[in-house]
Amino acid sequence: MADLNIPEAPPIPGATPLHSGKVRDLYVLDSGPYAGELLMVASDRLSIFDYVLDTTIPDKGEILTRLSLWWFAELGVPHHVLSTDVPEAVRGRAVVCRRLDMYPVECVARGYLTGSGLLDYRATGEVCGLALPPGLEDGSRLPEPIFTPATKAALGEHDENVSYEQVAGVVGADTAAALRERTLDVYARAEAVARERGIILADTKLEFGAGAEGTLVLADEVLTPDSSRFWPAAEWRPGHAQPSYDKQIVRNWALSPESGWDKASGVAPPPLPREVVERTRSRYVEAYELLTGERF
Ligand SMILES: Nc1ncnc2c1ncn2[C@@H]1O[C@H](COP(=O)(O)OP(=O)(O)OP(=O)(O)O)[C@@H](O)[C@H]1O
Ligand SMILES: [Mg+2]
Repeated sequence: MADLNIPEAPPIPGATPLHSGKVRDLYVLDSGPYAGELLMVASDRLSIFDYVLDTTIPDKGEILTRLSLWWFAELGVPHHVLSTDVPEAVRGRAVVCRRLDMYPVECVARGYLTGSGLLDYRATGEVCGLALPPGLEDGSRLPEPIFTPATKAALGEHDENVSYEQVAGVVGADTAAALRERTLDVYARAEAVARERGIILADTKLEFGAGAEGTLVLADEVLTPDSSRFWPAAEWRPGHAQPSYDKQIVRNWALSPESGWDKASGVAPPPLPREVVERTRSRYVEAYELLTGERF
């Protein structure tokens, strides 16, 4: 198991730390109208290859939080956000949300083939048990969007693509069907919105929790550069990796000779040069501004 390098959640008056993930810190609110519910704080942390980097990206937490909120409002499906009235120390990069029992499934929708989907396809001709036509390349558009779930790995482990049947085995057939339907529905809505703005939503990862009477509630962050692949539509050329609005800049730098880092070494990448931090921040801001049409 990799050393994740997640710093301790900073204390927040009136809230008790519950869990710190690679990017977000969760707290339980102690009192007030939302006592017992969650405060979800997005840090400026960035992870690549499952390592949380020592270097943070200024404003990243706020960009992701504001983008998620914009999408929650845009999508019109039940979601977990209760309020954006949060303690001063985390203003702008935190939300109060319903404390849900999360389904242990990373609900991924893909309209284009790349990443782990491409690797699986090259090895087997399938992704998550779904057979795809021959001849697809990196970045190819799929005949139709597909649901390619993954297990939520324990901290430090990689998520693993699984078949729909495996999901049904874990959450039951009805819930599996609902997760698939809702995931593809959200993907279709978001893909259309992004397309109008010249951006291809290649894929996205959603997480759901259980609401009353087994309804699905969209949780976590949604349709951010950390959870999705956004590609400039004008530059889309299947056959190689696409330029993308996310942390690709950091991955490329880490893998370049310049960083001196060996991915196989088992240690985290070194601190990022200031120029890489600045370019990465600009990329996140650009994604926010293009998608929402608003200045950050
Ligand atoms: N409404 C909610 N109720 C309960 N848990 C939630 C809710 N929304 C999001 N979460 C959980 O909060 C965490 C967000 O933290 P983050 O994304 O940084 O974690 P991660 O590193 O991706 O993964 P991990 O789940 O292993 O911590 C995730 O575990 C997510 O499942
Ligand atoms: Mg997460």
